[in-house]
Amino acid sequence: VWSSFSNVDPFAPVLSEVQAISERLRHSVSSSIPALTQAAEYFFRKGVKGKRLRPTLTMLMASALSHGTPSLEYSKMDVRPAAEHAPELRRRQQRIAEIAELIHVASLLHDDVIDDASTRRGILSLNASVGNKVAILAGDFLLARASVSLAALRNTQIVELLSQVLEHLVSGEIMQMTASDEKLLSMEHYLQKTYCKTASLMANSAKAVAVLSDQPPEVCDMAWSYGRHVGIAFQVVDDILDLTASSSILGKPALNDIKSGLATAPVLFAAEQKPELRPLILRKFKQEGDLSKAVQLIEASDGIQRAKDLARHHCDMAVGMVAAMPEPQSDHAVLSRQALVEMTRRVLSRKK
Ligand code: FPP
Ligand code: MG
Ligand code: MG
Repeated sequence: VWSSFSNVDPFAPVLSEVQAISERLRHSVSSSIPALTQAAEYFFRKGVKGKRLRPTLTMLMASALSHGTPSLEYSKMDVRPAAEHAPELRRRQQRIAEIAELIHVASLLHDDVIDDASTRRGILSLNASVGNKVAILAGDFLLARASVSLAALRNTQIVELLSQVLEHLVSGEIMQMTASDEKLLSMEHYLQKTYCKTASLMANSAKAVAVLSDQPPEVCDMAWSYGRHVGIAFQVVDDILDLTASSSILGKPALNDIKSGLATAPVLFAAEQKPELRPLILRKFKQEGDLSKAVQLIEASDGIQRAKDLARHHCDMAVGMVAAMPEPQSDHAVLSRQALVEMTRRVLSRKK
C-alpha cells in the first residue's frame, strides 16, 4: 500500500512552518547576543545546507496525529479564543521542534570542538572561525535557550523527555570516547551509543508532540519508536556514507570515522567476517597503513551490505509504527503519514 506514494516530497506538508521556526530561532539568537549572529546565521538561516530533519520529523509527527490542517496565520497569534485549542496546541508543538533544533545545533557546536573539526555543512565550523571558547559558549547559550523554552511549556513530562535527550547526548559521547576493547568490537555497544547520540533526540521529540496532544500512552510510544528507528537508520546510513562518499559531496572529510579511530556498523560487520580488522579497530587505526588496510578489508567483506540491511530493517520498523497508528483524523494527517513513510525511504537512499 505504501509503494504508491514514492513521489511525495516528505518535507512539503510542514515546509513553510519549519522555515518559520528556523527564522524565529535565527532572529531570537542573533538579537539577544549579537556576537552569536554568525552562529545563528550558520545554522538557522533559510537555504543553508542543513536538512532541518529534526524539526521536520517533529512537525510531521504532530500533523500525523492531528485533527486538522495547521494554519500559519493561526500559529503566529499568541492569544486564542478559548474554544480553539488546536492552534495553541500547534504553537506548543512548534516549540518542541525549536527545542529539538536548539539541542541539535548545540551538540554539533560542542562536537566540533571535541573533534577539532574545521568544517561543518560544507563551510568553516564555528570553532575554526571564532575559536573553541566562544563556540562552547555559543552551544551553552543555545542549551540555555532550549531550557527556558522547555520550562515555558509548563509540562513536567515533556521537560523529563527532553532533559533525558541531553543526558543521552552526553553519555553517548562519553561511551564513544571511553569504550573498552570489548565494547569497541561490540555491535550492541554501537547501537546503544547510536541511540544516545542520534536517535534519542528524534524519538523523544516525536514522543513529546504526541504527549502534548494528549495521545494515549501506546500512541506516544509509537511516535517514540518511529523516531528511534528512523534515527538509528539515519546514523547507520551516515556511517556507510562516511566510507563510500567523497568529501566534496558530504561537505566534510570522507573516512572521517576511521581517521578519528571509530569503528561504525559497516566496520563491525566486516570485522566479524575479517578478523584481521579487529587489531586495527582496537588500536583505533593509528598505525602506519591501517587506514588503507581497513578500507581494503571492508571492501572485501559484505560489511557495507549488512549495514544497509540493518538500516533498511530499522526503516521498515519505523513504517510499521506509522501503519499501526490509530485512524488518521484529517487529510493533513494522511498526507503527513505518507511523508513520514517517504522520509524513511529518503533516509535509505540519500547520497549525502
Ligand atoms: C555528532 O557526531 C555529535 C553528536 C550527534 C552529539 C554530540 C554530543 C556532545 C558533544 C555532548 C554535548 C551535548 C550537548 C547537548 C551540548 P559525530 O562527531 O560522530 O558526527 P559529525 O560527522 O556530524 O561531526
Ligand atoms: Mg564530529
Ligand atoms: Mg564527534
